[in-house]
Amino acid sequence: MVGIGRALVEAVEREAAVRGHGALWADASVPALAMLQRCGFTFVRANSKSLRGVAFDNAWLVKALRS
Ligand SMILES: CC(C)(COP(=O)(O)OP(=O)(O)OC[C@H]1O[C@@H](n2cnc3c(N)ncnc32)[C@H](O)[C@@H]1OP(=O)(O)O)[C@@H](O)C(=O)NCCC(=O)NCCS
Repeated sequence: MVGIGRALVEAVEREAAVRGHGALWADASVPALAMLQRCGFTFVRANSKSLRGVAFDNAWLVKALRS
């Protein structure tokens, strides 16, 4: 059975491919990193930021799409 995380990634990949995009970028929170890497994303760099006074230790990840 496919989990909701992989199902969401695959749905976005299909839509991105239909639209002709070559890669997907994700601005992901720490709890989602392992799942995204398991789904083929590569860590690019940390992206710590603050929104309305709340700190987030996010990271940028990228996944190339098959053409
Ligand atoms: C993060 C989250 C969206 C992942 O969704 P999920 O449905 O658990 O993920 P899936 O089951 O589709 O996992 C996809 C793959 O990643 C792997 N994976 C998922 N979470 C993992 C983890 N924490 N560590 C290592 N691997 C992980 C799965 O084993 C699976 O591998 P496989 O398909 O090769 O067997 C979900 O756990 C969640 O909503 N967590 C609570 C909220 C949260 O952390 N949100 C993050 C954004 S704020």
